Amino acid sequence: MESTLSGKRILLVVGGGIAAYKALDLIRRLRERGAAVTPILTAAGAQFVTPLAVGALSATHVYDDLFSRDDEQDVGHIRLAREADLILVAPATADRMAQMAAGLAGDLAGAVLLAARCPILLAPAMNPAMWMHPATRRNAALLERDGIGFVGPEHGEMAEAGESGLGRMSEPLAIVAAVEARLSAQGGKPLSGRRAVVTSGPTHEPIDPVRYIANRSSGRQGHAVAEALAEAGAQVTLVSGPVSIPDPAGVHVVRVETALQMLAAVEAALPADIGVFVAAVADWRAAEPASDKIKKRVGEAPGPLALTENPDILATIGHGPGRPRLVVGFAAETSSLMGNARAKLERKGADMIVANDVSGDVMGGTRNRVHLLTAAGAEDWPELPKAEVARRLARRFATMLGDME
Ligand code: C5P
Repeated sequence: MESTLSGKRILLVVGGGIAAYKALDLIRRLRERGAAVTPILTAAGAQFVTPLAVGALSATHVYDDLFSRDDEQDVGHIRLAREADLILVAPATADRMAQMAAGLAGDLAGAVLLAARCPILLAPAMNPAMWMHPATRRNAALLERDGIGFVGPEHGEMAEAGESGLGRMSEPLAIVAAVEARLSAQGGKPLSGRRAVVTSGPTHEPIDPVRYIANRSSGRQGHAVAEALAEAGAQVTLVSGPVSIPDPAGVHVVRVETALQMLAAVEAALPADIGVFVAAVADWRAAEPASDKIKKRVGEAPGPLALTENPDILATIGHGPGRPRLVVGFAAETSSLMGNARAKLERKGADMIVANDVSGDVMGGTRNRVHLLTAAGAEDWPELPKAEVARRLARRFATMLGDME
């Protein structure tokens, strides 16, 4: 027998629908390839296939009740969610998709799907009119945005006499192939299922409609961090100030100009598991930016520019209510590198400060020498390309998140 899924733990949610009979074959196919299948049979699913058949084919306990005294004494739904490498919902009904899109957890399957951090794959099966309904379209789009995968549905005959169209559940072997693809894409992706928000670049603070205060940040390190987190499997929102480098691959980019806009965009991107604040946010902005261009008068300069303090985005999020579990700041210093960084750790509510000496050509350059500072101590890294610093940081963040759980 092939064993492409050898040792993988698949949690299979069997939903309601005539296609539930195919879930029985699906269990067999998954097990043939070495997977351990733990089934959850929903109340609707149990109208179509029996717990006995599902249990016999999976050779394990069939879970069906959120409030089971036996299964729930160790908060079983959280354990079920955490122990799986992948959750497969087959058949996935329109109702299940709507519940998932809304984050409802009213039954065991709903609670497990909401608590899960592993990849989730849906094999929808429903009448074509239900699949094409704007509500189902909306829900499918929301679920895709949340990183949930789909296999099918296919075109074909419906159970309803004479009806055919898009809505048939994919065949078991096609579903198995989708499971394999999803799990192999997942290999070496330690941040899969995690959400991250990253700030990058400078901010531009207007003095008048054509002039602004800025700094030399290129966005290279922040963009590299966003890309590395995405490569490691995280779903990343990059909030970037004005930069002239390309968008990183696989990342949702939100472009902003000012610190105030950057803070609002970061808050809108929450909740997240990881927040990495790389942007060189302007510390001050013009207290009263002119709405018209300030006219040049020969022999006469305008009076002093009144400045006001910008919010500290890192500190606001680091001490704020929606704080990501892992908060990382950067510290660009030209002197007293570690002393300043240590003070920053606490003041900003960060778990780690990545300190770099910007007295050379680090700002705008392609290489970086960083020092990591956490409550546990300091660590010096050699000089590396910014992309490599980012990749190593992504791996470190995955370990830190794992340790926090
Ligand atoms: O205090 P300092 O500017 O050196 O702190 C640097 C760290 O704080 C960086 O992570 C930077 O992105 C963040 N920061 C911020 N908002 C500010 C100033 C700094 O998020 N207004």
